[in-house]
Amino acid sequence: MKFFIDTADKNKIMDLIPTGMIDGVTTNPSLIMKQGDDMATTIKGICNIQNGPVSAEVTAIDYAHMVEEGQYLASLADNVVVKVPLTVDGLKACKTLRHLKIDVNVTLCFSVAQALLAAKADATYISPFVGRLDDTGENGMVLIADIVKMYGLHGFHTEVLVASIRTTKHVELAALLGADVCTIPPKILLELYEHPLTGKGLDAFLADWANTGQSILPQGHRGMRDDSKLVLGPDDGSFAI
Ligand code: E4P
Repeated sequence: MKFFIDTADKNKIMDLIPTGMIDGVTTNPSLIMKQGDDMATTIKGICNIQNGPVSAEVTAIDYAHMVEEGQYLASLADNVVVKVPLTVDGLKACKTLRHLKIDVNVTLCFSVAQALLAAKADATYISPFVGRLDDTGENGMVLIADIVKMYGLHGFHTEVLVASIRTTKHVELAALLGADVCTIPPKILLELYEHPLTGKGLDAFLADWANTGQSILPQGHRGMRDDSKLVLGPDDGSFAI
């Protein structure tokens, strides 16, 4: 399962790239507003710092202008994915943009019927919003289970991109249900690393180790370590020294 990061904040993305966990980025007009820069500068900036897909959303609501905006957004960088809302015009625009070989993320999906329409419009990604469904008293993860099942039954290639993630539980369930992608706010991504027993166990190991007075590296050991050369591989997240 891929991890996209759900933010338009370039600094937050740069902080997380060294984890090797980031496969792409999603933005929306609200995130762009929060970040403060204009759309083109923000999207180009994000595309410059990582090669994964970057979703940039159209703001027109009629078909012709959506296609025009989508083509413009796609021209900003090779890894832009155009985001369109799940409306009649949005799905018409999706089909046209896909004919033009542009990747499309269909957003604001809240039902299996909508996900079915997006797959028929050849969407690259469908974004069901689990947190916002939970807010209404429904269970957003049930929708993910249903869409994954329905796409599997029909052999659709549209990837299920779980959006509006609010908790680490959403990510765990998305993985268990076979979703293709989770788009995760930076704070939740960092919470995925945490478990109280990990911290407690590490503290105990380090205290016992200190009591031994040992050091793993022998005195005078000349290692190969050179921090200036310790970098993350550009694509596979592997370390190279
Ligand atoms: C991402 O593509 C969505 O726009 C985002 O996950 C929505 O999240 P929110 O419901 O927390 O605003």
